[in-house]
Amino acid sequence: MTLKHFLQFSDFGTEEHEWIFQRAAEIKRKFKNYEKYHPLADRTLAMIFEKASTRTRVSFEAGMYQLGGSVVHLTTGDSQLGRAEPIEDSAKVISRMVDLVMIRTFGQDKLERFAAHSRVPVINGLTNEFHPCQILADIFTFIEHRGSIRGRIVAWVGDGNNMANTWLQAAELLGFTVHVSTPTGYEVDQAVAGIRSSDSYKVFRDPMEACRGADLVTTDVWTSMGFEAENEERRKAFADWCVDTDMMRVAKPDALFMHCLPAHRGEEVEADVIDGPQSVVWDEAENRMHVQKALMEYLLLGKVA
Ligand code: CP
Ligand code: NVA
Repeated sequence: MTLKHFLQFSDFGTEEHEWIFQRAAEIKRKFKNYEKYHPLADRTLAMIFEKASTRTRVSFEAGMYQLGGSVVHLTTGDSQLGRAEPIEDSAKVISRMVDLVMIRTFGQDKLERFAAHSRVPVINGLTNEFHPCQILADIFTFIEHRGSIRGRIVAWVGDGNNMANTWLQAAELLGFTVHVSTPTGYEVDQAVAGIRSSDSYKVFRDPMEACRGADLVTTDVWTSMGFEAENEERRKAFADWCVDTDMMRVAKPDALFMHCLPAHRGEEVEADVIDGPQSVVWDEAENRMHVQKALMEYLLLGKVA
């Protein structure tokens, strides 16, 4: 098998994404029925965290054990990564001992440098620029609740961050439109998002207009990890970008609400929305594990079954 990485959403083509969604559904069905499925017996996943995590760690770790494999957990603080060992050397060493690597780090460039020196597939577990595993889970969750996402409208309310960039890549590949509303100074940047054209997204100054007619309304924290020094400034700039019941009211009557979590009720989303009937955030979080199991299966075994 040729070596394949998942460093950003566009590393896979449309048909590969469709394969992952289909396998995720089957792997989830097995899990719910307590059916043993150990295609990755004797395989090891190294998880490298340079930023905090709850969902990413638990979903990859539990998922790998459920597939019959095992995991090694490394952080900056408890490895030589925090003591300036070059990322290229770390990649060469770690990838001689494990079968797969998941990394959560700061710049995408660091992830790319690791992948360039790795003998095994590398997965992006979040960078400043992208969060592709989360968008896999979000789209899988949309499909479970509402069917195909092709032709639908996704409203993005908030920061033009790693989540927003990844939504833009997914829209271009899977044929839906993103309505983006961010405060001035926090816009999405097409070059950073790595998309070819502006055909699959529209920019709205007013978040309410972005939500009008949407099939899915979604948001994220105002301050992402690594940007904590900007917290106060961002709190002021983002004050009008809180997803509230008025925004959900102008979306389609059956619109869903998603948030990658962790959430701050009263900041980017009102409690009535995230804890309300249109919210699917708990399914979304659980689905991280199912889509990532499908992703790991695909990267290591190709199209099985
Ligand atoms: N959504 C997400 O990636 O959560 P964690 O930061 O807890 O991993
Ligand atoms: N945009 C957020 C997502 C957290 C899962 C961050 O990067 O901190």
